[in-house]
Amino acid sequence: MCGIIAYTGKQTAMPVLLDGLKRLEYRGYDSTGISIISRKRIKTVKAAGKLNVLESKIDTPITGHCGIGHTRWATHGAPTDENAHPHVDSAKRFAVVHNGIIENVDALKAILGDDITYTSETDSEVIAHLLAQHEGDFIDAVRDVLAQIIGTYGLAVIDQQNPDQIVVARNGSPVILGIGDGEMLAASDMSALSRYTNQVIHLDDGELALIEPESFKVVRMDATLAHKEAITLSNQAANYDRGGHPHYLYKEIVDQPETAQQTINGRLDERFSTARLGGLNLSARDLIGIKRITILGCGSALYAGMAGASMIESLARIPVVAEPAAEFRYRNPVIEQDSLYIVVSQSGETFDSLAALREVQRKGGFVLGIVNSVGSTIAREVDGGIYMHAGPEVSVASTKAYTSMLTAFALLALLLGRSRDVSPQLGTSIINELKALPENISKVLTLETDIAKVADRYKNSHSAFFIGRTNGLPIALEGAQKLKEISYIHAEAYPASELKHGPLALVTEETPCIVILPDDDLLPKTISSMEEIKARSGPVIAVTSSDSKRIDKLAEAVLRVPASGPLTQPILMGVVLQLLAYHSAVSLGRDVDQPRNLAKSVTVE
Ligand code: AGP
Repeated sequence: MCGIIAYTGKQTAMPVLLDGLKRLEYRGYDSTGISIISRKRIKTVKAAGKLNVLESKIDTPITGHCGIGHTRWATHGAPTDENAHPHVDSAKRFAVVHNGIIENVDALKAILGDDITYTSETDSEVIAHLLAQHEGDFIDAVRDVLAQIIGTYGLAVIDQQNPDQIVVARNGSPVILGIGDGEMLAASDMSALSRYTNQVIHLDDGELALIEPESFKVVRMDATLAHKEAITLSNQAANYDRGGHPHYLYKEIVDQPETAQQTINGRLDERFSTARLGGLNLSARDLIGIKRITILGCGSALYAGMAGASMIESLARIPVVAEPAAEFRYRNPVIEQDSLYIVVSQSGETFDSLAALREVQRKGGFVLGIVNSVGSTIAREVDGGIYMHAGPEVSVASTKAYTSMLTAFALLALLLGRSRDVSPQLGTSIINELKALPENISKVLTLETDIAKVADRYKNSHSAFFIGRTNGLPIALEGAQKLKEISYIHAEAYPASELKHGPLALVTEETPCIVILPDDDLLPKTISSMEEIKARSGPVIAVTSSDSKRIDKLAEAVLRVPASGPLTQPILMGVVLQLLAYHSAVSLGRDVDQPRNLAKSVTVE
């Protein structure tokens, strides 16, 4: 999705802005642009396409110490040079970059009148023209204009008449201030700030900030001052480095023994054979009072939620459902006092997940977050939660955060289980299972050569099926999602039991079927599904923790993960499917880290 970077300070702004844009690339974009106040004038360069196209348009470096930059992911208007941000008013006094959507753009254009010549098809351009019609103080002018806007925004504005100042504002789209030494930055995403500072302030909705090289102030829309505390982020810059790997996605897959360990660290309570999750803000009495759980998320976070639902329900015997956050909030959900709601999100900024969270809270429900991004909006608005501690995830396709979501759910299932009927002995065995998880992920990573061979063999398939049952189904869903996202091979996931109710019609010798076979009670039944596929000449790739010889007989390839307990074997199988998708995408020459049409963090509805 769109990204913003803004800089004012002692350095020349252009390299900082270009570096910021580079770091925002992973969010997905189709055009870029920068505006810098240079020799008392605003200079703007914009280009459709990737950042290198913008760079090639800059013949001579632009001087100046204050500027803004943007990566645009087209919504209103095609990805063209004209539609790229920043947008300026007719006199080129103001330049604006904007993330979000202005819903009343037609009404605002009517206010502006017929004399304005618009140079783009975007809704955002209207902000620059409205600003040009205001007199007076810079920040007040921005506030007055924003008061007229219906919609969402994260934005940054520069003003030729205030050459060291930038005004940024937030309503529904993230803006973070970065406090440097003799310099101030702002961005929509930590990744663009991490090289320059680890002191950051997250703006809340309805707040604006005026930033200058040595100072900043934050005000609300009613002009009152907001007191904001900076937070210190540790070791951020290193996490945005590819560390010598060919892709961020690969790095994030192979980092998983470590990142899963980070999710577990300090959270196993061996004395009481349970999990220690201090951030939940729930007492032991609250825990036993929970009658139902609803898990909400989008995409891979939803599939992680489905896996979590299965873990919690089987261990704690609490009814749990996982639902797409967007669908949940629009069906006027019934919110119950004795229900627990859990929102799962890597970025903590996904619009639909945030909207669902707010809908539940508005109706008096208690919401936990399972979130990766520290200080993100969802993390700040939930009533309690579990940070994944997986570190920043750069590649658009989620891998390490997804695995950490499952790991966090395993911890929560243990805690809820032990607050009910799970015995100390079973609690201890789950603790041992979780302790072994990082090592077992490392063992799965050693299967890479075999997985790459399978990927190469089936890379030209037009379609693939992923099937599993109960615990295996959410893993199949995520496996299909990963393959679609990065290799563009059409993939569908089904409960294995549903195969003969329809999809079997599509199985031929050309349709690889990836079968997820945890070593559990349903294993013989899933093996029967393999037989059904085999009988239609469908090639079967088995991902299993079982040593059943029947599996070897029926499958073209068997990818065997280490034997482990019921909570973690799906996690291990998920890692196999990540590598399968990765190698399929690489062998097809895809843009692994920035797949077409996708954005890292979906901050619009
Ligand atoms: C993951 O591979 C996807 N790109 C996507 O489905 C993602 O999981 C979804 O958009 C939710 O994002 P979040 O975890 O940041 O909320």
